[in-house]
Amino acid sequence: MTWSLNNYLGLANLPEVKKADAEATKEYGLAYPMGARMMSGQTTMHEKFEKMAAEFTHKEAAYLLNYGYQGMVSIIDALVDRHDVIVYDSESHACIMDGLRLHMGKRFVYHHNDIEDFEKQLQRATRLVEQSGGGILVITEGVFGMAGDLGKLDKITALKKKYNFRFLVDDAHGFGTMGKNGSGTGEHFGVQDQIDVYFATFAKSMAGIGAFVASTKEVVHFLRFNLRSQIYAKSLPMAMTLGAIKRLEIIQTHPEYKERLWIIVRALQKGLRDAGLDLGNTESPVTPVFMKCPLTKVTQMLYDLRENFGIFCSAVIYPVVPKDVVMLRLIPTAQHSLEDVEYTIKAFKAIKNKIDNDVYPNEMKDFKL
Ligand SMILES: Cc1ncc(COP(=O)(O)O)c(C=O)c1O
Repeated sequence: MTWSLNNYLGLANLPEVKKADAEATKEYGLAYPMGARMMSGQTTMHEKFEKMAAEFTHKEAAYLLNYGYQGMVSIIDALVDRHDVIVYDSESHACIMDGLRLHMGKRFVYHHNDIEDFEKQLQRATRLVEQSGGGILVITEGVFGMAGDLGKLDKITALKKKYNFRFLVDDAHGFGTMGKNGSGTGEHFGVQDQIDVYFATFAKSMAGIGAFVASTKEVVHFLRFNLRSQIYAKSLPMAMTLGAIKRLEIIQTHPEYKERLWIIVRALQKGLRDAGLDLGNTESPVTPVFMKCPLTKVTQMLYDLRENFGIFCSAVIYPVVPKDVVMLRLIPTAQHSLEDVEYTIKAFKAIKNKIDNDVYPNEMKDFKL
C-alpha cells in the first residue's frame, strides 16, 4: 500500500484520463510542437488550457509552463530587478530558493510562517525600496509540501493595507485540493484576489507534467516575453497539454474527487492523532507523522513497515528534521479506501509501539559485513 504518490485526486488512474493521454499521444506522438512558444510552439490547445486555468483561478490570464521548477525560477527572475527586494518564507521550496539565487538585489527571509517577523522584514524592505525606487515581492507557498501547514495568506494579504508589495504564491500542493472549488489556498482563505501572481504545477493534483502561472493580463503578457526557461526551451508537448485540459475539466466538473480525498484525509489524520501520533500543524492533505526514532534505527523501522505491514511511504530525516526525529510523510489520495486508512493507522500504532519499546536493532552496532 503506497502513501507516496503525487496523485491527490486519483486522476492518474481514471480511464478517461488515460484515454485522453493515449489519444493525444496517438495523434501527435511526443514530438509536437517542435519549438519554443515564441517560435513554433504556440498552439490553440496551449491557449485553450490557459483560458481555462485563468478562469478556474479567478485571474485575468494564465501562461502554461513546461515544468513547474524551471517556471518558478524564471518567474522570480523575470519579476524583479536589482532595485527590488524579495521577502520570503524560510521554508520555501527549492525552486523558489533557486529563483532567489538569480536575484541581484536584496532579499530578506522571515522565520517560517512567523507574521511578526514577516512584518519586520517587510519594514526593512520598505525602507530599502524607498531609496532604490524598486518594489517588494513577497513569496510563500500556499501549502508547505513537506509538513502540510498552510502559508498564512490571510495575514500576509491583510498587511497589503499597510505596506506596498506584490504577492507571489507557489500553490503546488493547494491547487485542486484546497478551497471550495479546488481553486487553491487563496480560495481557501478567501484572498485569491489579493494574490498578484498565482503559480501551480501539474505534478500533484493533476498527476501530469507542466505548470501554469496566472495573474493580470498585463503581468502575464510581460511574463510571456520574459520567462527565460520558456522562451529558450521547447513548448509543453501536445500529449501533456491535451492531458492537462482533460484533467482540469475533470477537476471543474467532478467535485466528488476532492470530497473523496478529504474523507480519506480527515479519517487518516484523525485516526493517527487519536492513536497518539504527532502530525505537527498540517491543515492540508499532506500528512507528516513525526516520531522520535534514533537515526540508527530508521531503516529497520521502514523495512518493518514495508516488508511486514506492506506499507510504503517516504521518510525524511536529519537535517530536514531534528536529529533523532523521523518524519514519515503520507500523501492521501482519493483512490485510497477507508479500509486502507484503518489498516495504516493500526500499522503506525504498531511501529510506534516498537520504537517506544526499543525493539528495532541499532544498525550501526549490529551491522555485520
Ligand atoms: C512547492 C513546489 N513548487 C514547485 C515544484 C516543482 O514543480 P514540477 O515538479 O512541476 O517541476 C514542486 C514539486 O513538484 C513543489 O512541491
